[in-house]
Amino acid sequence: MTAPKKLFIKTYGCQMNVYDSERMAEALGGQGYVQTDHAEDADMILLNTCHIREKAAEKVYSELGRMKVLKDAKPDLKIGVAGCVAQAEGAEIMRRQPMVDLVVGPQSYHRLPAMDAAVQGGAKALDTDFPEDDKFKTLKTRSKAKRGPTAFLTVQEGCDKFCAFCVVPYTRGAEVSRPADRILREARELVDAGVRELTLLGQNVNAYHGHERGLAGLIWALTEIDGLERIRFTTSHPNDMDQALIDAHGTCEKLMPYLHLPVQSGSDRILKAMNRKHTAESYLRLIDRIRAARPDILLSGDFIVGFPGETDQDFEDTLQLVRDVHYGQAYSFKYSTRPGTPAAEKPQLPDDVMNERLQRLQALLRDQQQQTQASMIGREVKVLFEKAGREAGQMIGKSEYLHAVYADAPATVLGQVRRVRIVQDSANSLKGELIG
Ligand code: SAH
Ligand code: SF4
Ligand code: F3S
Repeated sequence: MTAPKKLFIKTYGCQMNVYDSERMAEALGGQGYVQTDHAEDADMILLNTCHIREKAAEKVYSELGRMKVLKDAKPDLKIGVAGCVAQAEGAEIMRRQPMVDLVVGPQSYHRLPAMDAAVQGGAKALDTDFPEDDKFKTLKTRSKAKRGPTAFLTVQEGCDKFCAFCVVPYTRGAEVSRPADRILREARELVDAGVRELTLLGQNVNAYHGHERGLAGLIWALTEIDGLERIRFTTSHPNDMDQALIDAHGTCEKLMPYLHLPVQSGSDRILKAMNRKHTAESYLRLIDRIRAARPDILLSGDFIVGFPGETDQDFEDTLQLVRDVHYGQAYSFKYSTRPGTPAAEKPQLPDDVMNERLQRLQALLRDQQQQTQASMIGREVKVLFEKAGREAGQMIGKSEYLHAVYADAPATVLGQVRRVRIVQDSANSLKGELIG
């Protein structure tokens, strides 16, 4: 028997790329590949890339530069680029870095086995189609290997919203929802392999329409699976938060009280220029309705500072919106010009203005995050324990609010949801005591 070939995958970008990397590894598993954590051992290296901001895309080329050393030492090594940079740049990647053997987009990676056969024969392989055949039909079942207690599950892909700054509609294509029955089957396979918490993924996950009652209908159907204890979903668009989904936050016990609901800006002028199709006021009223259904929900958001044309007043409006909402957690970014997007045509703001705004916004968001964390002290939460901590006897997991919590506990708690009282707040996590 020949030794199995080794596959090293490096994943950039969003959770959907994490999910896709798992599925690529499973697809190549059928070709005799096993995964390795060490690039130096690999027979194939795949970079699963992100195109969302300039920095993310440039990282790929510097990583490829480093990989070239490995390829020079081991000419049989195959190097592939997958994900959103692959989709956006296609053959250009091979022109810039000729040692790349394979380029595969996010909608065509079910064809990796055939592409592997081609590159093993010495050819180059490029596939950035948006094929008619659904990749999930080809990929079929999930690996039966035992897994940790949490997993991602893609239910919807692509985006039809076309925010003026964003590449996702071009790299991931039009919005497509997977049929509910297939998602339920995959969820059961994951639960059989040890998963207790699923995070449903979509670029606009709440636009999901593969169930007749939308995402809420899918969530309720998933609650029927024995052994599945927790459900989360991300990322949502404010305009797709329907009443059934808001209600589910109040009534569905398995749905966790955490919602990532990006708004990007608090200025109506900028929201309009961004093509977000909602106002700051409509977002705030939506938050009121969500909090009415689930008062303790932890809200998270995304913000862009320095969108073309953003004035001091527009930026102040963003700060005001953040004060009005009070986020438990958030991500904020400097606007990055993306080729092919409508906003790329407009004059850019000076970098020092963007830097100063980003610092002020991040300071405010950090304060809110710290306050939210500190407010957990003394409270009882439920933690799904995921792994052993750094210190002996310590186990780490996540509360229902997605806070990392560690506690002294026996290893038997791994994979279980246990009651914990929060006793201390440290920089990025909470310390708790097991009480049940
Ligand atoms: N589909 C999701 C997230 C898309 S990308 C949504 O609609 O919210 C994740 C985040 O990256 C976005 O919410 C946005 O805040 C940020 N982002 C996207 N394009 C960007 C750009 N050109 N420059 C800076 N940040 C950007
Ligand atoms: Fe990008 Fe907007 Fe679509 Fe989100 S909703 S993926 S920000 S175009
Ligand atoms: Fe990046 Fe593509 Fe996700 S651009 S954020 S990897 S959808």
